[in-house]
Amino acid sequence: MTVLDIPELALVALVGVSGSGKSTFARRHFAPSQVLSSDTFRGLVADDENDQSASADAFDALHHVAAIRLRRGLLTVVDATNLQPHARAGLIRVAREHDVLPVAIVLDVPEAVAWERTEARADRTHGRQVLNRMRRDLRQSYGRLAREGFRKVHVLRGVDEIDAAEIRYEKLF
Ligand code: GTP
Ligand code: MG
Repeated sequence: MTVLDIPELALVALVGVSGSGKSTFARRHFAPSQVLSSDTFRGLVADDENDQSASADAFDALHHVAAIRLRRGLLTVVDATNLQPHARAGLIRVAREHDVLPVAIVLDVPEAVAWERTEARADRTHGRQVLNRMRRDLRQSYGRLAREGFRKVHVLRGVDEIDAAEIRYEKLF
Protein backbone atom coordinates (compact mmCIF):
# COMPACT_ATOMS: atom_id res chain seq x y z
CA MET A 1 0.00 0.00 0.00
CA THR A 2 1.22 3.49 -0.83
CA VAL A 3 0.08 6.06 1.71
CA LEU A 4 -0.38 9.56 0.39
CA ASP A 5 -0.14 12.14 3.16
CA ILE A 6 -2.29 15.16 2.47
CA PRO A 7 -3.02 18.13 4.73
CA GLU A 8 -6.61 18.16 5.96
CA LEU A 9 -7.06 21.39 4.09
CA ALA A 10 -5.37 21.29 0.71
CA LEU A 11 -5.91 22.02 -2.92
CA VAL A 12 -5.21 18.69 -4.58
CA ALA A 13 -4.37 18.71 -8.28
CA LEU A 14 -4.63 15.36 -10.02
CA VAL A 15 -2.09 15.23 -12.84
CA GLY A 16 -2.24 12.69 -15.64
CA VAL A 17 -2.98 12.05 -19.28
CA SER A 18 -6.45 11.20 -20.48
CA GLY A 19 -7.17 7.63 -19.47
CA SER A 20 -4.74 7.62 -16.54
CA GLY A 21 -7.66 7.15 -14.16
CA LYS A 22 -8.00 10.58 -12.55
CA SER A 23 -11.81 10.62 -12.36
CA THR A 24 -11.87 7.03 -11.14
CA PHE A 25 -9.28 7.85 -8.46
CA ALA A 26 -11.23 10.95 -7.43
CA ARG A 27 -14.47 8.97 -7.10
CA ARG A 28 -12.77 6.33 -5.02
CA HIS A 29 -10.98 8.57 -2.55
CA PHE A 30 -13.04 11.75 -2.26
CA ALA A 31 -16.64 12.81 -1.82
CA PRO A 32 -18.34 14.00 -5.03
CA SER A 33 -18.67 17.53 -3.66
CA GLN A 34 -14.91 17.73 -3.04
CA VAL A 35 -14.06 17.08 -6.67
CA LEU A 36 -14.15 19.85 -9.27
CA SER A 37 -13.85 18.27 -12.68
CA SER A 38 -13.06 20.20 -15.84
CA ASP A 39 -15.57 18.01 -17.70
CA THR A 40 -18.34 18.94 -15.29
CA PHE A 41 -17.55 22.62 -15.61
CA ARG A 42 -17.46 22.44 -19.43
CA GLY A 43 -20.88 20.86 -19.19
CA LEU A 44 -22.11 23.62 -16.90
CA VAL A 45 -20.94 26.47 -19.13
CA ALA A 46 -21.49 24.88 -22.55
CA ASP A 47 -23.99 22.01 -22.21
CA ASP A 48 -21.22 19.80 -23.59
CA GLU A 49 -18.49 18.23 -21.45
CA ASN A 50 -16.31 17.79 -24.53
CA ASP A 51 -16.56 21.30 -25.93
CA GLN A 52 -12.89 22.29 -25.78
CA SER A 53 -13.76 25.82 -26.94
CA ALA A 54 -15.44 26.25 -23.55
CA SER A 55 -12.29 25.44 -21.60
CA ALA A 56 -11.36 29.03 -20.69
CA ASP A 57 -14.82 29.73 -19.27
CA ALA A 58 -14.96 26.32 -17.62
CA PHE A 59 -11.67 26.85 -15.79
CA ASP A 60 -12.69 30.35 -14.85
CA ALA A 61 -15.78 28.93 -13.15
CA LEU A 62 -13.81 26.03 -11.65
CA HIS A 63 -11.22 28.39 -10.14
CA HIS A 64 -14.00 30.54 -8.75
CA VAL A 65 -15.68 27.62 -6.99
CA ALA A 66 -12.31 26.32 -5.78
CA ALA A 67 -11.57 29.74 -4.27
CA ILE A 68 -14.91 29.82 -2.46
CA ARG A 69 -14.40 26.31 -1.10
CA LEU A 70 -10.89 27.10 0.14
CA ARG A 71 -12.10 30.30 1.77
CA ARG A 72 -14.65 28.13 3.58
CA GLY A 73 -11.91 25.77 4.70
CA LEU A 74 -12.89 22.81 2.51
CA LEU A 75 -10.49 20.36 0.91
CA THR A 76 -10.78 20.62 -2.85
CA VAL A 77 -9.64 18.24 -5.58
CA VAL A 78 -9.19 19.35 -9.17
CA ASP A 79 -9.89 16.57 -11.66
CA ALA A 80 -8.33 17.86 -14.88
CA THR A 81 -5.24 16.76 -16.78
CA ASN A 82 -3.20 19.61 -15.20
CA LEU A 83 -0.39 18.80 -17.59
CA GLN A 84 0.54 22.33 -18.59
CA PRO A 85 2.36 24.84 -16.41
CA HIS A 86 -0.18 27.58 -17.12
CA ALA A 87 -3.05 25.34 -16.01
CA ARG A 88 -1.25 24.50 -12.78
CA ALA A 89 -0.26 28.12 -12.20
CA GLY A 90 -3.94 29.04 -11.93
CA LEU A 91 -4.41 26.46 -9.18
CA ILE A 92 -1.26 27.49 -7.31
CA ARG A 93 -2.50 31.07 -7.38
CA VAL A 94 -5.91 30.16 -5.96
CA ALA A 95 -4.28 28.07 -3.21
CA ARG A 96 -1.82 30.82 -2.28
CA GLU A 97 -4.54 33.44 -2.16
CA HIS A 98 -6.23 31.35 0.52
CA ASP A 99 -3.12 30.20 2.41
CA VAL A 100 -3.86 26.61 1.46
CA LEU A 101 -1.19 24.08 0.52
CA PRO A 102 -1.24 22.93 -3.08
CA VAL A 103 -0.59 19.20 -3.48
CA ALA A 104 -0.10 17.24 -6.71
CA ILE A 105 -1.00 13.59 -7.19
CA VAL A 106 0.49 12.30 -10.44
CA LEU A 107 -1.09 9.23 -12.03
CA ASP A 108 1.33 7.69 -14.51
CA VAL A 109 0.15 4.65 -16.44
CA PRO A 110 1.82 3.03 -19.45
CA GLU A 111 0.82 4.51 -22.78
CA ALA A 112 -0.84 1.26 -23.86
CA VAL A 113 -3.14 1.35 -20.83
CA ALA A 114 -4.18 4.95 -21.40
CA TRP A 115 -4.77 4.29 -25.10
CA GLU A 116 -6.78 1.13 -24.54
CA ARG A 117 -9.04 2.97 -22.09
CA THR A 118 -9.42 5.92 -24.45
CA GLU A 119 -10.42 3.68 -27.33
CA ALA A 120 -13.03 2.00 -25.15
CA ARG A 121 -14.79 5.30 -24.38
CA ALA A 122 -17.38 6.77 -26.68
CA ASP A 123 -16.92 10.21 -25.10
CA ARG A 124 -13.19 10.41 -25.88
CA THR A 125 -12.37 10.89 -29.54
CA HIS A 126 -8.81 12.20 -29.47
CA GLY A 127 -6.19 10.31 -31.45
CA ARG A 128 -2.96 8.73 -30.43
CA GLN A 129 -1.00 11.86 -31.35
CA VAL A 130 -2.93 13.88 -28.81
CA LEU A 131 -2.22 11.23 -26.20
CA ASN A 132 1.47 11.30 -27.10
CA ARG A 133 1.53 15.05 -26.66
CA MET A 134 -0.05 14.65 -23.23
CA ARG A 135 2.58 12.09 -22.31
CA ARG A 136 5.31 14.49 -23.38
CA ASP A 137 3.73 17.20 -21.23
CA LEU A 138 3.61 14.74 -18.33
CA ARG A 139 7.33 13.93 -18.68
CA GLN A 140 8.13 17.63 -18.68
CA SER A 141 5.93 18.17 -15.64
CA TYR A 142 7.94 15.91 -13.35
CA GLY A 143 10.85 18.25 -12.92
CA ARG A 144 8.66 21.31 -12.53
CA LEU A 145 5.90 20.53 -10.05
CA ALA A 146 7.85 21.21 -6.85
CA ARG A 147 9.44 24.34 -8.31
CA GLU A 148 6.02 25.63 -9.36
CA GLY A 149 4.95 25.61 -5.73
CA PHE A 150 3.35 22.23 -5.06
CA ARG A 151 4.27 21.48 -1.46
CA LYS A 152 3.87 17.76 -1.89
CA VAL A 153 4.18 15.82 -5.11
CA HIS A 154 2.92 12.26 -4.87
CA VAL A 155 3.69 10.08 -7.86
CA LEU A 156 1.81 6.83 -8.49
CA ARG A 157 3.40 4.76 -11.23
CA GLY A 158 1.45 1.98 -12.86
CA VAL A 159 -2.01 0.55 -12.38
CA ASP A 160 -1.09 -1.54 -9.32
CA GLU A 161 0.40 1.37 -7.40
CA ILE A 162 -2.62 3.53 -8.23
CA ASP A 163 -4.93 0.74 -7.06
CA ALA A 164 -3.05 0.30 -3.80
CA ALA A 165 -2.91 3.98 -2.84
CA GLU A 166 -4.63 5.27 0.27
CA ILE A 167 -5.02 8.86 1.41
CA ARG A 168 -4.00 9.77 4.95
CA TYR A 169 -4.95 13.18 6.28
CA GLU A 170 -2.43 15.19 8.25
CA LYS A 171 -3.90 17.28 11.03
CA LEU A 172 -3.08 20.94 10.58
CA PHE A 173 -2.80 21.62 14.31
P1 GTP B 1 -9.84 11.87 -18.77
O1 GTP B 1 -11.06 12.35 -18.06
O2 GTP B 1 -10.06 11.58 -20.22
O3 GTP B 1 -8.65 12.79 -18.58
O4 GTP B 1 -9.43 10.44 -18.15
P2 GTP B 1 -9.25 10.07 -16.63
O5 GTP B 1 -7.82 10.21 -16.27
O6 GTP B 1 -10.25 10.77 -15.79
O7 GTP B 1 -9.56 8.50 -16.62
P3 GTP B 1 -10.84 7.76 -16.04
O8 GTP B 1 -10.77 7.71 -14.54
O9 GTP B 1 -12.07 8.28 -16.65
O10 GTP B 1 -10.54 6.30 -16.55
C1 GTP B 1 -10.65 6.00 -17.93
C2 GTP B 1 -11.21 4.62 -18.09
O11 GTP B 1 -10.35 3.68 -17.47
C3 GTP B 1 -12.58 4.46 -17.43
O12 GTP B 1 -13.40 3.78 -18.30
C4 GTP B 1 -12.29 3.65 -16.19
O13 GTP B 1 -13.33 2.75 -15.92
C5 GTP B 1 -11.02 2.91 -16.51
N1 GTP B 1 -10.18 2.82 -15.33
C6 GTP B 1 -9.70 3.86 -14.61
N2 GTP B 1 -8.98 3.45 -13.55
C7 GTP B 1 -9.01 2.10 -13.62
C8 GTP B 1 -8.43 1.07 -12.82
O14 GTP B 1 -7.74 1.30 -11.84
N3 GTP B 1 -8.67 -0.20 -13.21
C9 GTP B 1 -9.41 -0.48 -14.30
N4 GTP B 1 -9.57 -1.73 -14.63
N5 GTP B 1 -9.95 0.45 -15.08
C10 GTP B 1 -9.77 1.72 -14.74
MG1 MG C 1 -11.70 12.16 -16.22
